[in-house]
Amino acid sequence: MERKKNSLVELAKILVFALIIMVSFAGYAKFGIPLVIPAPPPVEEKITGAVTMDQMIAMGDKIFHGKGTCTLCHSPVGGRAPLLEQIGTNGPARLKDSRYKGKAKTVYQYIIESEKDPSAYVVAGFGKPGTNDTVSPMPMTNKGAIGLSDFELDCVAAWLLKTGGLPLAEIKPPTGGAAAGAAAAGAAPEEIKPAATAEEAFNKFGCPTCHKVPGLPEGGDVGPDLTKVVKLAKTRKPGMSAEAYIFESITAPNSYVVKGFDKDVMPGDFAQKMTVSEITLITKALLGEK
Ligand code: HEC
Ligand code: HEC
Repeated sequence: MERKKNSLVELAKILVFALIIMVSFAGYAKFGIPLVIPAPPPVEEKITGAVTMDQMIAMGDKIFHGKGTCTLCHSPVGGRAPLLEQIGTNGPARLKDSRYKGKAKTVYQYIIESEKDPSAYVVAGFGKPGTNDTVSPMPMTNKGAIGLSDFELDCVAAWLLKTGGLPLAEIKPPTGGAAAGAAAAGAAPEEIKPAATAEEAFNKFGCPTCHKVPGLPEGGDVGPDLTKVVKLAKTRKPGMSAEAYIFESITAPNSYVVKGFDKDVMPGDFAQKMTVSEITLITKALLGEK
């Protein structure tokens, strides 16, 4: 216990030291002295002792558009999920809906409930096919492939409330030196660099949000189970090799729509976002090759 405390104190010291260095860099920049070392990326969020509401909102924005994978579904393209930018009017309306049986009393609580237990209330017309809007296709975002921490869920909620013009008073930014710094560091978006392994590539592009994929324990069921595609791929299109089919499925998902699933659900822009090495890693993993 004592040792843990000591290492936290050490961590706090390092953080404060890093902050001093950064502040002095900022000072230099102000006086127009060219920097030899490129200005550090916006790590301020990582290292300040306490987190401000504005920082939480900024992190929420990044998580929503990045590692949270929310925009795979919550985007104007495809109409797969309600637009969360409209939570300012939709949120209060959900709570008044006679179908609402959840526990939330405020829009903040409703957002957190939706993040942790999407089926607590399913927006009409958006349930899984055949469930009469009782089961949500949205994965739990605090578990499994997405796995956001409570702090990260709060950041996303803060950003959504702010975007919707709703009060933020229920959210309490963490205070208390190193602990808050560590929480903030955890939420800071990772640098965007090409994935080095198939597992990294799957996670980077949110494949497990919708699919079970080889090598990862958690996966969604919005799309087909990709641990089985190794056998199926060569049967999908007459004359097309398994490898070519998989490549096409990733880069142009609508060119073949698997029976029992809808078109326009899988994002169509992976070809623009992936590097050649990433698509190769993924294709090989799906073919069961190393
Ligand atoms: C695989 C698709 C998918 C992903 C990924 C996803 N959602 Fe959803 N989400 C949905 C669908 C579909 C609904 C509507 C059905 C329902 O009410 O559960 C929904 C509903 C919601 C609602 C309620 C919206 C309303 O208008 O009442 C919130 C809040 C929400 N999602 C937040 C998030 C956040 C935050 C993330 C990312 C951390 C996320 N979702 C990721 C599909 C998704
Ligand atoms: C938002 C949900 C979603 C995401 C994210 C997603 N997919 Fe899909 N995917 C689907 C759906 C739905 C289908 C079935 C409809 C179709 O064929 O387009 C599908 C089909 C496929 C197929 C064809 C499977 C078969 O049995 O023939 C492959 C391969 C595939 N996806 C790979 C990927 C990979 C790799 C990623 C990540 C880079 C990914 N998908 C991300 C929803 C998704």
